[in-house]
Amino acid sequence: MKTADILLIEDDLNQCESTACLLEQAGFSTDTAHSCQQAQACLDQHQYDAVITDLNLPDGEGIQILPHARQVQPEILFFVLTGDPSIPQAVKAMRKGVTDYFAKPFDDSELIDRLSHTIAQSRQKRTLKTTESRLSPHPYPNGLVGNAPSIQQLRRDIESIADSRSTVLILGESGTGKTLTARAIHEQSSRRHGPFVEIDCGCLSDSLLESELFGHVAGSFTGANQNRSGKFLLADGGTIFLDEIGTASNQLQRKLLRVLQERQFEPVGSSKTHKVDVRVILATNQDLLEMVKHGTFRADLYYRINVITLRQPPLRERLPDIQNLANFHLHRICQDLERPHCILSPELLERLRQYEWPGNVRELVNVLERAVVLSRGRILHESDLPAEFGPVGDVPHADLISHGLRQVLMAPERDLIEQALRKHQGKRQAAARELGIDRTTLYKKMKRLGLLPSNRDTHVPLPNID
Ligand SMILES: Nc1ncnc2c1ncn2[C@@H]1O[C@H](COP(=O)(O)OP(=O)(O)OP(=O)(O)O)[C@@H](O)[C@H]1O
Ligand SMILES: [Mg+2]
Repeated sequence: MKTADILLIEDDLNQCESTACLLEQAGFSTDTAHSCQQAQACLDQHQYDAVITDLNLPDGEGIQILPHARQVQPEILFFVLTGDPSIPQAVKAMRKGVTDYFAKPFDDSELIDRLSHTIAQSRQKRTLKTTESRLSPHPYPNGLVGNAPSIQQLRRDIESIADSRSTVLILGESGTGKTLTARAIHEQSSRRHGPFVEIDCGCLSDSLLESELFGHVAGSFTGANQNRSGKFLLADGGTIFLDEIGTASNQLQRKLLRVLQERQFEPVGSSKTHKVDVRVILATNQDLLEMVKHGTFRADLYYRINVITLRQPPLRERLPDIQNLANFHLHRICQDLERPHCILSPELLERLRQYEWPGNVRELVNVLERAVVLSRGRILHESDLPAEFGPVGDVPHADLISHGLRQVLMAPERDLIEQALRKHQGKRQAAARELGIDRTTLYKKMKRLGLLPSNRDTHVPLPNID
């Protein structure tokens, strides 16, 4: 059964306590905040289904929280409670995107009923949307994210060459998307229903690679106990993608040349010739022409494979694409890890834009995954970046103020609590004593700071929903 998480924002402590109690009794898991700043900190740490806020708070109007709430969570429901209901105010609130409006004193059961009903409706809509987006095509043709001219050109090239059987050579540094492009060519071609077979020539010894590509017959070498089909045969009717072709030995290069020219080969230890209908795509991050000059790559093979050449641009040459790439992969990573959707803080995004990216898009994907796993909140910060990005820059004074005192103080507070818990092997009573606070306060702080291990699993079921 589904649960719902509510953030209740109310500065009148008695009113806050009694409304929180009502919500908890009705089965909603409820966090409370007494000011706009506290509310913002809660929203940065947890994912809520709904916010219920008083209109007049000590540091502003409750409605001011709405843009931040929607920024971290576009689907969040936003309810306003006020003791001073007036029609113009209500209309103003609705126009700003408020979900519903409750006049104080409210009727307890009406509040709960309307809340449950709206949450249930919104969930239904969200499920529909997710299903639709699963069915709708990828927003970026060929799965290649980016709008840089070089990527747009690459997309056009993929489209125009996909259906020919010509050999394609993809050049590019490691992690720039060579495999992605090879797959895209296959997927766009009339061979897409046939196999796509990939092999990394760099990770096998010469003899193993030869047998892997062309197969072998039993007894052809020590350990070859039975006949085995190679990748070329497996790829018949489809596409074979030979990655790191620059590492192939001279003997293998000769054999490859023959397949490319005649589409036929003999398995290792056999004289039987196999004919295949295979489209060959090759990739390398080495300078093959330079290798030809030095005699380490066969000139005849080079000219044979250099029919259609595609270049993958390094990420540092298309930094304006960083935001789209990062958001695309962040969404996927959070889905894969079954985590609430995370967003990038503006400072972190700026750091991503300033970095050189020697490992290209693969490095970006790894950096994001690491940040999602390590971060406690839903906003990824500079401090979630690995050491290569250097020390976290000093946050300018004005930025500190915009983050709010409470949020700025959260990091050292979290560190101290973690240290105390570590010191006492996770025993909360002892950690609280060490910190000079009682156990309940420690528990509340841990909850607010996202330090409870199964924070999201302890909710009471929501009544009347699903
Ligand atoms: N244009 C792009 N849009 C979205 N994701 C991309 C793009 N380019 C690369 N990636 C992602 O970057 C990662 C690395 O891509 P890929 O494996 O295709 O690179 P590669 O050039 O083949 O790397 P290697 O040289 O190590 O084989 C993958 O997760 C891939 O999805
Ligand atoms: Mg690759």
